[in-house]
Amino acid sequence: MAIARRSTGGDCVGIVGAGQLARMTYQAGIALGLTVRLLAETPEDAAALVAADVETGSARSLDALRHFAASCDVLTFEHELIDPAHLRDLESAGHILRPGAAVATTVFDKRRQREVMVKEGLPVPAYTDAVEGADDVVAFGDRHGWPLVVKLANGGYDGRGVFVVSDAVEAEQLLVELAGRALLVEAWVPIERELAVMVARRPSGECVVYPVVETVQRDGICHEVFTPAPLSALLEAQAKAMGRRVAESMDLVGVLAVELFVTADGLVVNELAARPHNSGHHTIEGCVTSQFENHLRAVLDLPLGEPGLVGTAVAMANVLGAADGLDPQAALGAALEVPGAHVHLYGKQARPGRKLGHVTVVGDDLDDARERARRAAGLLMGTREREPV
Ligand SMILES: Nc1ncnc2c1ncn2[C@@H]1O[C@H](COP(=O)(O)OP(=O)(O)OP(=O)(O)O)[C@@H](O)[C@H]1O
Ligand SMILES: [Mg+2]
Repeated sequence: MAIARRSTGGDCVGIVGAGQLARMTYQAGIALGLTVRLLAETPEDAAALVAADVETGSARSLDALRHFAASCDVLTFEHELIDPAHLRDLESAGHILRPGAAVATTVFDKRRQREVMVKEGLPVPAYTDAVEGADDVVAFGDRHGWPLVVKLANGGYDGRGVFVVSDAVEAEQLLVELAGRALLVEAWVPIERELAVMVARRPSGECVVYPVVETVQRDGICHEVFTPAPLSALLEAQAKAMGRRVAESMDLVGVLAVELFVTADGLVVNELAARPHNSGHHTIEGCVTSQFENHLRAVLDLPLGEPGLVGTAVAMANVLGAADGLDPQAALGAALEVPGAHVHLYGKQARPGRKLGHVTVVGDDLDDARERARRAAGLLMGTREREPV
């Protein structure tokens, strides 16, 4: 347990979790002169490496959460690996949580997310959360068609809790592997493109909605995000309205990401995250106010900032760990030669497929911005060569 400097005045925001999302939120806090404390699992966590005020402890431990909460005025979180019952306990003890424990209880569980969306009349894939065994999955597949998608109700990320199942045999095998886990089973959706919309909302109800982005997912991992998404004005407006509606219905405080699928029949809501999100990293350089700054403003009940784009087009490419464990830092010089490349490296140990950083490019032309972001990220991942001069 190490408690360091408390340099600035004002309310202290405590973030449970110290990965790259906390790291970038912390950076936004520096600009505003805020006091931001972190609860890190280890001192090597991405944000713990750079923050002045870090406590180490497990986000799964009520004792660690209580100890941490005692030194913070407002508590927020950067991941879902927390028991919502613990958050309810903290709230009952008088701590201020933003978003609150009720929102966490909903968004930490994909089955509960669906309940909210259905209640709000939002379109979602056909699904069932009544999954006792393989028979229920097979019955769903026979009713809605194969393949289908089985998802862990909680704890999944970067596609790790998402399984596409082709037939009854595969369903039976998977259910053996996932025995004891809470599951959501849903129809496989023929996705034309994937979108996300970020919303920031204050306790007063003030709410801003960011321009809709398109996300490029491969194997369940986000590779690229760009905006404007090539959409009709109607779909853009619908996506934004859905984001706002979800935030309002949950009385959300903080930022919210709503992931959507574009299908031949229109938009379908996939999932929610009530925290800064990978589909909002481009907002650091690409929007008037970043998602990280607006999250802090929202949880401290400060006026929200403009969400609009600062350029015609913004593209973000993730830097994912290469198979050979190459450290992206080694290619920093090469990546910085790419015109307009804003490089973010998270200081994480390189492991295959792990999110180690991202690159954002703001430009006049979407294709050009995407190409430059991909090139710089590719150099950092070792999948692209430096271009001959
Ligand atoms: N019903 C579906 N039909 C087709 N593809 C799907 C479906 N559900 C999810 N996918 C694909 O799998 C990806 C990951 O799914 P989902 O967003 O539910 O998982 P996750 O691991 O929680 O994601 P994240 O990393 O965003 O938290 C989606 O972005 C999409 O590409
Ligand atoms: Mg997702």
